[in-house]
Amino acid sequence: MLSYRHAFHAGNHADVLKHFVQIQLHEYMNQKDTAYTYIDTHAGAGVYALDGGYASKNAEYDTGIGPLWDRKDMPKQLADYVNLVKGLNPSGKMRYYPGSPYCADKAMRDQDRLRLFELHPADAKILADNFRKVAEHAAAQGERPVQRGKRVLIERGDGFHALKTLLPPQSRRALVLIDPPYEDKQDYRKVRDALEDSLERFPSGIFAVWYPVLQRMESRQFADKLKRLPVKEWLNVTLTVSTPGPDGFGLHSSGMFILNPPYTLEPTLRQVLPYLVEVLGKDAGATFVIESGSQMTGSSTSRVGANGSARVPVGNARRASPTAGTGSLRLPGQAPAGTPGVAGAVGPRTAAAPGARRTSGRPTGPKTPGSRRP
Ligand SMILES: C[S@@+](CC[C@H](N)C(=O)[O-])C[C@H]1O[C@@H](n2cnc3c(N)ncnc32)[C@H](O)[C@@H]1O
Repeated sequence: MLSYRHAFHAGNHADVLKHFVQIQLHEYMNQKDTAYTYIDTHAGAGVYALDGGYASKNAEYDTGIGPLWDRKDMPKQLADYVNLVKGLNPSGKMRYYPGSPYCADKAMRDQDRLRLFELHPADAKILADNFRKVAEHAAAQGERPVQRGKRVLIERGDGFHALKTLLPPQSRRALVLIDPPYEDKQDYRKVRDALEDSLERFPSGIFAVWYPVLQRMESRQFADKLKRLPVKEWLNVTLTVSTPGPDGFGLHSSGMFILNPPYTLEPTLRQVLPYLVEVLGKDAGATFVIESGSQMTGSSTSRVGANGSARVPVGNARRASPTAGTGSLRLPGQAPAGTPGVAGAVGPRTAAAPGARRTSGRPTGPKTPGSRRP
């Protein structure tokens, strides 16, 4: 199914979460000199114009990068991401938003490799054109020419299939971003299968998966399924900007699930997610969840409030899932089952991976309902 165009959604709250996390992962990879390969299985168009065409139709950037643009009080790591976006907008006006390939290109070094896959013929062409323009611009600025063909490889094709051919990478270091449209519910299964296969080929890779948090069953069960993959450690973060309406329309919440996360990521998320909830949150349903787990069996599970204080020790790791599949308790003002849990609410939960721990939080004050839905 090729009806999805990311241009309609560029810069929304889900992009903010995804690209912010992506940049943290690059920063971590950059700590070692050894080159690494970045594989973007669903690359999109690379750069999106916000001031015209698709993106301006619903102005979804108003739910994400828009409210961050002029803020002066951001945590440093978030400011770094916003500055990367600003680098694409030298006039200071918010006109362009970078997709994951552009974020990668900016964050990576000359010695690293980008492998970008996009199935949609139009977006694959725009992606290639965008990279050509970036290279031309760099050359015009007198920047040292990098062997683009070697460093950046763009292919129109199926990213799930490509992953099989690229792992393990020669450099033995890889960061993989998997970001399908999920319009076809098969994408949930394909992601899980791709991760299972990839972990066999390259168990030490860092794999980051973006996913929508929706009412549909595949979405509600998705994170719990990923927690059972045979990986040493995982980290799951969700950002919810508002309570879903009764019609379930729009995207209110999304998550990033990371296999083999760097140890630096969780503390960074604990600093930044409360801020994002505060600034992007539209109503009392705005919240975040950070949870992590390992293959270690028998560890206890704890929940920690947004202020870092211990909240509810759950004790039984099998009850640690935040995305309750069925029967989760719904309290007044609490997001419905399937959206990330609200701090302090405990209900029957589906079995989850052992060794999980969880942080969640809500904005500190009431919010006025947003006028626009994603
Ligand atoms: C959510 S968008 C990607 C956005 C991009 N990762 C970013 O953050 O800027 C998903 C993209 O995957 C493409 N796509 C769908 N199925 C694909 C497949 N099997 N392989 C590669 N690309 C695919 C769609 O055309 C769409 O452009």
